[in-house]
Amino acid sequence: MAQVGNAKVSRTAPPGAKSDRARHERAANQTEPKIATKPRGAAAKRPSEAPSRVTSAIVFFREFLRSPAAVGALFPTSAAIGKAITSRIGLESAEFVAEIGAGTGPITKHILRTINHQRCTFFAVEINEKLAHEFRSRFPDVHLVCGDALKLRSLAQQVRGAKHRGHAGLDAVVCAIPVSLLPAAARNALFEEVAKSLKPGGWLSLITYQVPMTPKARELRRALRAHFDEVRMLPPVWGSVPPGFILQARCRPK
Ligand SMILES: C[S@@+](CC[C@H](N)C(=O)[O-])C[C@H]1O[C@@H](n2cnc3c(N)ncnc32)[C@H](O)[C@@H]1O
Repeated sequence: MAQVGNAKVSRTAPPGAKSDRARHERAANQTEPKIATKPRGAAAKRPSEAPSRVTSAIVFFREFLRSPAAVGALFPTSAAIGKAITSRIGLESAEFVAEIGAGTGPITKHILRTINHQRCTFFAVEINEKLAHEFRSRFPDVHLVCGDALKLRSLAQQVRGAKHRGHAGLDAVVCAIPVSLLPAAARNALFEEVAKSLKPGGWLSLITYQVPMTPKARELRRALRAHFDEVRMLPPVWGSVPPGFILQARCRPK
């Protein structure tokens, strides 16, 4: 376990290891992930001890009860949201991708299915230690930073720097942090940090459950427009309860 500022970086494989692709694909294809390798520093788990989606949902629900505003949802994100939020942002050709507010990883599965594992560096950020622990049990091969997405640039630099010296611009950021529940100042600080962490032309894709015509939803789109050049909304995701709305934003390519 390495230290990034206050954050802990879990790296279960040496950067650039040839087996990265196979392991990531295996993780992406697991509906009920098997623990093939143990997280560094943790006791080895037999596959029968791997957390199921039900146990992950229970951990998630408990963490919601402990801090409802930060966790922002009663249950993990649905597969329908996972599919929609990872669409149309060029993940297939991306070289550097981050997921912020990864929770127990239901969106991560879709990212891992979409990225090209030979060319893309991917890492996830989760602020809640219990959820981060759950995530690591489910995805032992994914880089997970237990830290604050408000420090995204320095986290990205740290992750990327280990593999490709210097360059830390992200092609895409997938965000499930409950941005519409954040105070305006915190939400704006997050958008500013994400905008600065992206390459020109890179996309932020986020989920909100605010119905589009409500004042809160309008305010959210206004805040996005203040930090990005282009903001669009995908068709509603009806396959989720409640229905979700995906907002995508980017600064123009230069
Ligand atoms: C609505 S939940 C969704 C999580 C994940 N998609 C899932 O379904 O398990 C939002 C997540 O964002 C995390 N979060 C909130 N603020 C954060 C921050 N500043 N940095 C990183 N993660 C944060 C919460 O702890 C929570 O796990």
